[in-house]
Amino acid sequence: MKPVRLLTALAAATALVLPLAAPASAGPHHGDRPGHSRHDKPGTLRWAAPDGFVIGTAVAGGGHHLEQDYPDPFTSDKRYRRILADQFSSVSPENQMKWEYIHPEQGEYDFGMADAIVEFAERHGQDVRGHTLLWHSQNPEWLEEGDFSEEELREILHDHITTVVGRYAGRIDQWDVANEIFDESGQLRTEENIWIRELGPEIVADAFRWAHEADPEAELYFNDYGVEDVNAKSDAYHELVRELLSEGVPVHGFSAQVHLSMQYGFPSSLQENLQRFDDLGLGTALTEVDVRMQLPENGRPTWAQLEQQADYYGRALSACLGVEGCDSFTIWGFTDKYSWVPVFFEGEGAATVMWDNFGPKPAYFSLWSALLESRHGGR
Ligand code: G3I
Repeated sequence: MKPVRLLTALAAATALVLPLAAPASAGPHHGDRPGHSRHDKPGTLRWAAPDGFVIGTAVAGGGHHLEQDYPDPFTSDKRYRRILADQFSSVSPENQMKWEYIHPEQGEYDFGMADAIVEFAERHGQDVRGHTLLWHSQNPEWLEEGDFSEEELREILHDHITTVVGRYAGRIDQWDVANEIFDESGQLRTEENIWIRELGPEIVADAFRWAHEADPEAELYFNDYGVEDVNAKSDAYHELVRELLSEGVPVHGFSAQVHLSMQYGFPSSLQENLQRFDDLGLGTALTEVDVRMQLPENGRPTWAQLEQQADYYGRALSACLGVEGCDSFTIWGFTDKYSWVPVFFEGEGAATVMWDNFGPKPAYFSLWSALLESRHGGR
């Protein structure tokens, strides 16, 4: 970490412990600060954030968690829930709003976990990012293996979007309407994505239209990985979005997931890339940030690795803070204890901002100080 940030980091270290230990009523509240609420306990990430800027995390549950030897983190881990509420002003269901969870059988919805997350967010004054409505992955078997006509499939998607977005109308701030529709080379996933394969690319515009009808207030996003830099894939989004906007399709935002691996370097044109979407009049967001690394044999990151990781987190956040319409920065989990990374990438890990025991890493302080600097700089 840069020496100039040492003092703010020390202050953050103290502040991190305080809100975890203090009762909800202790200490001053900052509810009268514009864009902030009584939930923002002094010293936390959400408190350090500039007005109107949300700092979020994925809510751990479903997906890879089901294969681990711990109970559902969100519903079972009290310490986890406490930090989730204290530190973050936005939450994204990691898996709990995906098709296979929320629509497990044809015509049957299961809103249990999704409702619980939205209610939690409301209790703690948090935004919610809905994830996701049209994707090639984590679809239920009845859908992927079903024998449906085009008309039936269209109706299935329409019903899903209307039902799910409608249920949370006014309560979900941003939706990842279309997730990962392009592959690495910037080609539409015309085979993998059931909707595009069976109904053609025009279905993407319909998904946005249906979501907008179901909740005119929600901001509707394209979301993807590998689109941090100006590259073929982000170019493809830029072109598509321009086309859709010219046709009056209600697209409101473009978000980059930002799953970084230190071995590939930092995406140096991140801010420039966000800015060109901002220039189209779109909101932008970073939605799934984590920074993984190749772990030494003892499994413990070196100081140099932790410093580099902190630098990457700080730079990603600063890139977003540097773009006027980028007002939402979400990390894909805040503790290594529940991270998806070691499950997917052999030999890599330590990708989040807190250790297994929730102790903060340099990356936590890097986020904290970047937020505070931006707030004091009058973003
Ligand atoms: O497919 C098998 C299924 O056949 C089997 O019955 C089941 C048993 O547990 O496992 C299924 O696969 C799991 C899958 O979730 C479906 O629930 C994987 O093993 C599991 O690793 C997977 O994890 C989730 C992953 O999305 C799936 O793509 C992670 O928890 C979740 O963090 C991750 O999140 C994604 C975002 O949604 C989109 N961007 C990338 C990000 C990281 O991959």
